[in-house]
Amino acid sequence: MTEQKVRWGILATGGIAATFTADLVDLPDAEVVAVASRSPEPAKAFAERFGIPRAYGDWESLARDEEVDVVYVATPHTAHRAAAGLMLEAGRNVLCEKPFTLNAREAGELVALARDNGRFLMEAMWMYCHPMVRRLKALVDDGAIGEVRSVQADFGLAGPFAASHRLRDPALGGGALLDLGVYPVSFTQLLLGEPSDVVARATLSEERVDLQTGALLSWDSGALASVHCSIVGGTATSASVTGSEGRIDIPYGFFFPDRFVLHRDGRDAEEFTADPADGPRNSLKHEASEVMRALRAGESESPLVPLDRTLAVMRTLDAIRDRVGVRYPGEVR
Ligand SMILES: NC(=O)c1ccc[n+]([C@@H]2O[C@H](COP(=O)([O-])OP(=O)(O)OC[C@H]3O[C@@H](n4cnc5c(N)ncnc54)[C@H](OP(=O)(O)O)[C@@H]3O)[C@@H](O)[C@H]2O)c1
Repeated sequence: MTEQKVRWGILATGGIAATFTADLVDLPDAEVVAVASRSPEPAKAFAERFGIPRAYGDWESLARDEEVDVVYVATPHTAHRAAAGLMLEAGRNVLCEKPFTLNAREAGELVALARDNGRFLMEAMWMYCHPMVRRLKALVDDGAIGEVRSVQADFGLAGPFAASHRLRDPALGGGALLDLGVYPVSFTQLLLGEPSDVVARATLSEERVDLQTGALLSWDSGALASVHCSIVGGTATSASVTGSEGRIDIPYGFFFPDRFVLHRDGRDAEEFTADPADGPRNSLKHEASEVMRALRAGESESPLVPLDRTLAVMRTLDAIRDRVGVRYPGEVR
């Protein structure tokens, strides 16, 4: 694999599958060789749209395709466990969309499968691979703002989303927390690790998914994080990280920033802006490149998106859901 292109398979043909495939097609070291859907027609249409040679009307055929190096799982969250598990059991490497699974139990099962089978597995938490987020993390690690004392982050969409939409459907793991709240929680845990305690409140829909959720996370160090997510209000979608010696503010789109501002105590503010060479701020190519780098290096997980952090984020999402009373139909925890 060191010399050759990395051969991708795409599992599911929805919105993010199309966005990701379009970004992959732009990468010279990537080749999309197969797509699988639950039925033949969508797979065929997707393959024609992106010039993909093999279209499968079932997941098993993709799992058996030895000419696929890595599968990108882009089903709704409720199917991540089954889809990624099937691929790992068949010996495929996997990049699986966020939230990684419905709950921490499912996440633990996938991680165990990957580790037992020696396969590569990564959550598609593209924020962790974003060049500007990596710059921010490096600044914080270098002590630019001293010891982190608090984080605030939010992600909210105005909608409105119909009750039939994936985001409102309990059978598809609907609600703001798993789809959007995973970003503020993951950002917070990038900087502070897993919290020791969680309190939360939510507004639930008639279908009993969370329309908006606010959570306060705490650490034994005394650090606190306030996270908010919504599918009924377009929030600022910004973040602020405060330390003992300063603060970093990230305006709209904190998980794919094109700028942020560092305020060091007693100094002028410093603005950091994206390198135009990195391409569009919302490109998914950075996570795809990280997968391919890791595969070429023979790594079974990415140091940028470590599985233990993914597991810790899933535990926090479970804890928040426990506090606000959201359980999905048939969910086993
Ligand atoms: N990284 C990001 O920026 C980002 C953005 C949006 C969404 N996401 C994540 O990506 C996942 C998919 O979101 P999306 O917006 O692409 O959803 P979507 O447009 O509804 O597409 C999901 C696809 O999954 C398949 N599918 C639908 N229902 C299914 C079911 N019950 N079981 C198995 N497969 C089913 C369908 O493809 P087939 O008909 O081909 O089977 C469908 O087109 C979610 O987990 C979401 O959180 C990530």
